[in-house]
Amino acid sequence: SLTYNVLAIETSCDDTCAAIISRDREKNTAALIDHVKITLDSSLQGGINPALATAHHHQSVGPLIRDVLKKHADTTIDLVCATRGPGLPGCLSSGVTFAKGLSLGLGVPYLGVHHMLAHLLTPRLFEAAEGYSGHKTEFPFLSLLVSGGHTMLVLSKSLYDHTVLCNTADVAIGDALDKCARTLGFQGNMLGKVMDQYCRSADTPSSQWSIPMPVDNKNDIRYSFAAFHSYIGMKKKETQAETTPELALEVQTAIFNHLMKKTKAAFNIYKKEIASATTLVCSGGVAANPRLREALQELCAKYKLEAVFPDPYWCTDNAAMIGWAGIELHEDGYRSDLEGFQIPKWPL
Ligand code: KG4
Ligand code: ZN
Repeated sequence: SLTYNVLAIETSCDDTCAAIISRDREKNTAALIDHVKITLDSSLQGGINPALATAHHHQSVGPLIRDVLKKHADTTIDLVCATRGPGLPGCLSSGVTFAKGLSLGLGVPYLGVHHMLAHLLTPRLFEAAEGYSGHKTEFPFLSLLVSGGHTMLVLSKSLYDHTVLCNTADVAIGDALDKCARTLGFQGNMLGKVMDQYCRSADTPSSQWSIPMPVDNKNDIRYSFAAFHSYIGMKKKETQAETTPELALEVQTAIFNHLMKKTKAAFNIYKKEIASATTLVCSGGVAANPRLREALQELCAKYKLEAVFPDPYWCTDNAAMIGWAGIELHEDGYRSDLEGFQIPKWPL
């Protein structure tokens, strides 16, 4: 039918999430009706423990779905989606199995969704809001994903055609920011964010540590952030320098300069491939940084690309993006069967 509602479940990592989206195919609009999540607190674990995370989803998914369905008892569900991969095997299977059972119970189709595809399509959900009149992200488009786990530049030509143009050779940019910030003396978590706040009072970065650029070869199109942490650790030990906003900004700027330099090199090397793209979607936790946003906007302007920054909340793992990707796939004729199981390692 032309209007229908989707229930989506995301359990690939440590958050159990569910969303309901209503879709009007005729008007080509979509509305996020609700999004709920139960987060597993992994802060005492020093990382995610797969067995604990799996148990968390098994425990949470039932009550979470029960409550959201009860709350929207007047909403008929016409399609059930779940994250099929990539992610932790036990975690994925919890959501996939629940979604299949639900689809049988409701007598509606089940659809398994690629988690990274869902991240890439996120801005299109909000651009489908009724009355939205801003920029639209259409294929082909570029995505720069900068988070605690990823640093990649992707060219998406269609729902099924994605090319990773540039990836990290070692750690992710958010990880590097967090580790460098810790070395500078910041404490807690999300230290890249803490360091961002701290260095906002600095107008210009210091140049006291002359931080070198890694893989400084024009033809090497890879990001690399591991060297920043070791260099900054060495400098801190050697100089015992006191952390100032200017010094923190020097560190942050060096890391961002590398990101920008390699992104620009990739734009040049893949000039032909990206020629018809008009949008660069910048997502992931690090994309919340105003100085990075400014630098990216400037670079994009030079390449006639519109830089789009989805709301940081929807850049982290959520079920709304799974539901929207499910809508796009479903309308394109993509189907999943009940035999299909989770795919923990699933390339784009
Ligand atoms: O996408 P995200 O929220 O989650 C995961 O990757 O799991 O990204 C988190 C990362 C952390 O490294 C955090 O320090 C960084 O994004 N981050 C920032 C800012 N806000 C979050 N880095 C720089 N500036 C920010 N404003
Ligand atoms: Zn994710």
